[in-house]
Amino acid sequence: MDLYEYQGRALFARHGVPVLDGGVATTPQEAVELAERLGDRVVVKAQVKVGGRGKAGGVKLADTAAEAQTHATNILGMDIKGHTVGKVMLTVTADIDSEYYFSYLLDRANRTFLCIASTEGGMEIEEVAKTAPEKVVKTPIDAGVGVTPEIAGQIADQAGFPAELREQLVDVFVKLWDAFVAEDATLVEVNPLVRTPEGKILALDAKVTLDENADFRHAEHAEFEDKSAVDPLEQRAGEAGLNYVKLDGQVGVIGNGAGLVMSTLDVVAYAGEKHGGVKPANFLDIGGGASASVMANGLEVVLSDPQVRSVFVNVFGGITACDEVANGIIGALQMLADRGEDVDKPLVVRLDGNNAEVGRKILADANHPLVTEVDTMDAAADKAAELANKEA
Ligand SMILES: Nc1ncnc2c1ncn2[C@@H]1O[C@H](COP(=O)(O)OP(=O)(O)O)[C@@H](O)[C@H]1O
Ligand SMILES: [Mg+2]
Repeated sequence: MDLYEYQGRALFARHGVPVLDGGVATTPQEAVELAERLGDRVVVKAQVKVGGRGKAGGVKLADTAAEAQTHATNILGMDIKGHTVGKVMLTVTADIDSEYYFSYLLDRANRTFLCIASTEGGMEIEEVAKTAPEKVVKTPIDAGVGVTPEIAGQIADQAGFPAELREQLVDVFVKLWDAFVAEDATLVEVNPLVRTPEGKILALDAKVTLDENADFRHAEHAEFEDKSAVDPLEQRAGEAGLNYVKLDGQVGVIGNGAGLVMSTLDVVAYAGEKHGGVKPANFLDIGGGASASVMANGLEVVLSDPQVRSVFVNVFGGITACDEVANGIIGALQMLADRGEDVDKPLVVRLDGNNAEVGRKILADANHPLVTEVDTMDAAADKAAELANKEA
């Protein structure tokens, strides 16, 4: 999970890394109030999860609170590399003497952690690596040893940081490593890390990626989740424990097993070419179980997508036999009707594998007005695409 700068900055502060006083605002009015509280000159910064905000006009200095309001008005809603700005961060302005670059990251290719340090900060490190590779110092970090003050000192020396800053830099480098480890991050990047004219070291930017595999030991990281960026249907599916990905077509897809569902997306897209160009509306893997309640939850999510015009249920019976799945589908439709959901879109069901014949007979006997049973995957995809096109 990538964090916004203001979240990364909060995380840095928690670990004693020196950052400037600040806060976030979602409206120009909030920005003025914040600017007045911060006093003096402030920086208004777009909060988007991409770099190069400065160049894109998303970082502006303001001499007065009124100016901060103007900048906030301009920056909120701005598009930066396809990301719409919904929040701005305001911080106190720093006087800058030098801008440095510093990061720790998981170096997957070399199966180690890596520290990258450079006295040429502020710009993109990839640029510096191209134009002045000798100014970019890379140091592998042994996970068992970590970053001791001694190692931090060696990094500062090798990267050519001024000797009079050594003590402060060692402290910051060690604290950043502590943050990296304690928070289970895969990236902690400070660009720029600055030196003020008074010789103080400050982190002016914060880019942090957390390892989601470690979420189980960080209940507190849930606050970083960006609910606004999550599709509401995906959120609902997630809460129901379903593997659902919203796509932008018209044929709802439900299947068991990720591989089967992916190939179902392909056959639906292919069949759709003959039926007005309809496409799959989603990916939904209900897993091995495919019980009535899981099927009902899946159907509920798929049917609540207003773009969906037909649903293709593609199940290959394995451990869960097709008769159970067929009962699951009929049970699910009943369950949804009982919950008061509008179930009015046609369902095409293809059952194959363990006990397929029995399953098909159950569907035929139930004779549900919305359910069409088709024996093969291609024919079923074709039928679902045809129905989606007809319902348009
Ligand atoms: N608090 C601040 N005070 C003064 N200048 C700042 C401050 N924050 C950022 N800057 C300047 O703006 C530049 C870009 O800001 P930064 O946060 O690094 O955004 P990005 O990396 O997305 O361009 C920095 O390199 C620095 O020169
Ligand atoms: Mg930066």
